[in-house]
Amino acid sequence: MKILVTGGAGFIGSNFLQLLVPRHPEHEFINVDKLTYAANLENLREVASLPNYRLEQVDIADGPAVDALFERHAPELVVHFAAESHVDRSILGPAEFVRTNIEGTFQLLEACRKHWKTQAGLFHHVSTDEVYGSLGATGLFTEETRYDPSSPYSASKASSDHLVRAYARTYGLRTRVTNCSNNYGPYQFPEKLIPLMILNCLERKPLPVYGKGENIRDWLYVGDHCEAIWQVIEAGKDGQTYNIGGHNEVKNLDVVHLLCSIVAEETGTPEAELRALIKFVQDRPGHDLRYAIDASKIQRELGWTPRETFDTGLRKTVRWYIQSADWVRQVRSGDYRKWLERNYGTRTSA
Ligand code: NAD
Ligand code: DAU
Repeated sequence: MKILVTGGAGFIGSNFLQLLVPRHPEHEFINVDKLTYAANLENLREVASLPNYRLEQVDIADGPAVDALFERHAPELVVHFAAESHVDRSILGPAEFVRTNIEGTFQLLEACRKHWKTQAGLFHHVSTDEVYGSLGATGLFTEETRYDPSSPYSASKASSDHLVRAYARTYGLRTRVTNCSNNYGPYQFPEKLIPLMILNCLERKPLPVYGKGENIRDWLYVGDHCEAIWQVIEAGKDGQTYNIGGHNEVKNLDVVHLLCSIVAEETGTPEAELRALIKFVQDRPGHDLRYAIDASKIQRELGWTPRETFDTGLRKTVRWYIQSADWVRQVRSGDYRKWLERNYGTRTSA
């Protein structure tokens, strides 16, 4: 089968390709990526030489280019990861989020509609739990939870989810949607909480915690997310949504404390020295309080459960960042430094 994977050079997409390209030599994987700041071809070094992998540098919002891709490869499955993915960036500059996440998804759906007249193909849309908005102290997001996005990022992902479902209902396109909680693991760009805190601990830089650090996220190891997506592709039902989460709710401040303790153990640094780096900074506007996923549908129907615990997954992740100094140096280009200055330069202490 020919599989078009969008955003395969980003964090989750590259973990997905690393897992599946060697495991499935019978399938051909075409990575369609614009190669934005968030992409890194180093992530795919081992996969790049395999005969069943190839890269196409294409912007998914460029309709004619997407159409030409479908002409060239005639894919039977699209796994759609490509997106602008960082909430803080969407607050500072929403335009690119509308363009890639909404317009880009639309162009892909249009290509599927045009080329898959016989319903031969399947469109798997990778989405987020942020479309559901924020939970209070109790309750869980189910597949039936009403959409209520807070940030330009989550609103753009919600729009893309609606478009995917509209193409299923209106044109009979075969689609599946997965909405997943916060991922962490190797190859995550260090603008997100966990890699940012690990690297700042290693470099003895301040650990910027938004507000009081009381917001809660439901953390899932990236490999578990990728396995879940593949299980939905292999055994899920058309037109269905599956929530994916780790049953692993942790307050941000507790995540940072845990990371201080793991980095301290792994590097022989006194933990108190790392905890002293914590700095409470101005909160994110519209900051969702709590995300927590009810993953019982995917567990019950497809038998998926996460393999990593937060402790094993975080330790693996910390070790990976310690051992990947070259990767870290490479992603910290001039552009990345400019972004850090723009984001944190305007945040005062809380
Ligand atoms: P990422 O930012 O690390 O990677 C995004 C990738 O998409 C990059 O390789 C980038 O070059 C590519 N891309 C961006 N714009 C593009 C365009 N116009 N055309 C082609 N390629 C483009 O993102 P990620 O964290 O790996 O997230 C992947 C997907 O999973 C996203 O759709 C995101 O909404 C979703 N998701 C992420 C998380 C998470 O915790 N990271 C959780 C749930 C869902
Ligand atoms: O829930 C899934 C979503 O998780 C994905 O759809 C997004 O693509 C992904 O970026 C992630 O969004 P979050 O906003 O939850 O992740 P982030 O790592 O940016 O922040 C996690 C929490 O930590 C959040 O409550 C904000 C807080 N935070 C974040 C950063 C970067 C801090 O306190 N300090 C920071 O420096």
